[in-house]
Amino acid sequence: MKVILVNGSPKSNGCTYTALKEVSKELTKEGIETEVFQLGNEPIMGCIGCRVCKQTGRCFKEDLVNEFLDKIDDADGFVFGTPVHYAGASGSITSFLDRVFYSAGNRFDYKPGAAIVSCRRGGATAAFDQMNKYFTISNMPIVSSQYWNMVHGNSPEEVLQDLEGLQTMRTLGKNMAWLLKCIDSGKKQNVAYPEKEKIQRTNFVR
Ligand SMILES: Cc1cc2nc3c(=O)[nH]c(=O)nc-3n(C[C@H](O)[C@H](O)[C@H](O)COP(=O)(O)O)c2cc1C
Repeated sequence: MKVILVNGSPKSNGCTYTALKEVSKELTKEGIETEVFQLGNEPIMGCIGCRVCKQTGRCFKEDLVNEFLDKIDDADGFVFGTPVHYAGASGSITSFLDRVFYSAGNRFDYKPGAAIVSCRRGGATAAFDQMNKYFTISNMPIVSSQYWNMVHGNSPEEVLQDLEGLQTMRTLGKNMAWLLKCIDSGKKQNVAYPEKEKIQRTNFVR
C-alpha cells in the first residue's frame, strides 16, 4: 500500500514538509510506502476550463499535474499539505489541485485523503476547510485526527516545538494506516464498492 504526500509549499524542507514527514514516519512504521511529491517554487498555472482533459484524462499543459496524474492509480491514499497564505491554501496547491481533480475523473474514488496545513498564527481552519472540499466532491473518505490537522510555526524549528501539532500529525498517520488496512481487508472479503447512480447535473436550470 502506498500514500502520496503532496507538499504545496514553495519550500521543500519548510514547515509543511516537517508536518508531512511526521505523518509519513507513522505510515512507514505501519508498513505503508510513502512518497513526498514536491510542488516546488516554479509557477503552476490554474485551470483554464478547456476541457481537453475530459477527452484525454490528461491536462493540456505538460507539467507537474500530468506527472501526478500518472501516479494516482498506483496510490492508495493521499495527504495534501499546504502553508496558509492569507488564510487560504497556497496559490500553487490551489492551481495544482484544481487541475488534478478536474482531469482525474473518478480516479480518486474511495481512496482516503487528508489535508494538513501549516501557519504562523491564523487562518488554519479556513485553509483546512478549503482543502477538504476536493475530497468531498470526489467520493473520497476523509481521514481525521485528534484535532484539526494543523501545525503552527514560521520555521521548521518552531513547528518542532508545536508538540500538539506534531502529535496530531502522528495520529493522522496512524488513522490513515488503519483505514487503508480496513479497506484492503474489505477488498479481500469482496465488499463491493457502492453502486453509482448516473450523475444528474442540473446547473440550477430546471
Ligand atoms: C504569502 C504568505 C502569506 C501568509 N499568510 C499567512 C496567514 O494568513 N496566516 C498565517 O498564520 N501565516 C501566514 N503565512 C506564514 C506561513 O503560513 C507559515 O510560515 C507556514 O508555516 C510556512 O510553511 P512552509 O515553510 O511550508 O512554507 C504566510 C506566508 C506567506 C509567504
